[in-house]
Amino acid sequence: MGRVALVTGGSRGIGAAISKALKEKGYKVAATYAGNDEAAAKFTEETGIKTYKWNAADYEASKAGVAKVEEELGPIEVVVANAGITRDAPFHKMTPEQWKEVIDTNLTGVFNTVHPIWPGMRERKFGRVVVISSVNGQKGQFAQVNYAATKAGDIGIVRSLAQEGARFGITANAVCPGYIATEMVMAVPEKVRESIISGIPAGRLGEPEEIARCVAFLVSDDAEFINGSTISANGAQFFG
Ligand code: CAA
Repeated sequence: MGRVALVTGGSRGIGAAISKALKEKGYKVAATYAGNDEAAAKFTEETGIKTYKWNAADYEASKAGVAKVEEELGPIEVVVANAGITRDAPFHKMTPEQWKEVIDTNLTGVFNTVHPIWPGMRERKFGRVVVISSVNGQKGQFAQVNYAATKAGDIGIVRSLAQEGARFGITANAVCPGYIATEMVMAVPEKVRESIISGIPAGRLGEPEEIARCVAFLVSDDAEFINGSTISANGAQFFG
């Protein structure tokens, strides 16, 4: 097939699983990362997937990065806005910096990633946009006022993009992972994590590959009529 796919935060965690799944399906994948050079180099060595370093929170860097990927690989037809961070704190302790960092990366980062790619998708009359939201954007989460706000925002973004893109052959959908076995979830204090797992009817954390398979389907030609949707993959923790 050979379509070019950009995956932000694509060298670690859920993003790495998405990058690999798309490569296996024949896409030419570009994976971005913000800071961890060592992990990115290891990822490229293991998978052969090219990585690009820029901060999704920076519009000019995203624009320049997108231009570079398109120059090297061709027009981006699939974009997976996956890059995300947590700065968890109970609301009374949350600092304006913690609020802003998460908004800048997780929410504005989606704008910064998709905006430079969107005009080309409109021109070519084809595009697939997937935004990685979260169960915590659907249900809220203790100590995540910032993160939950961004992940709820992702759902509004894809519903709106879907309405703008549909007549140009562009779909935009959100995937809401539940708690997945990644570094982000492993950073939650063990006791809190155990109590979260006990509340997941499936009785376990999800695997990154389980999210990657949802994304691979949504970007495929088979998913052409699925537009503005939210797919939950959370072991029945929450239905949204
Ligand atoms: N629900 C209810 N109560 C909770 C809680 C939770 N999930 N997490 C912590 N608390 C309680 C603590 O037990 C503590 O209670 P006591 O005062 O009675 O002891 C109180 O809330 C807060 O304690 P602290 O003031 O000491 O909190 P802190 O400033 O040290 O912050 C924390 C601790 C950051 C909240 C930490 O507990 C934490 O990281 N909690 C997990 C938050 C979480 O689930 N994040 C999700 C990350 S994974 C992710 O985001 C991926 C995804 O999309 C699913």
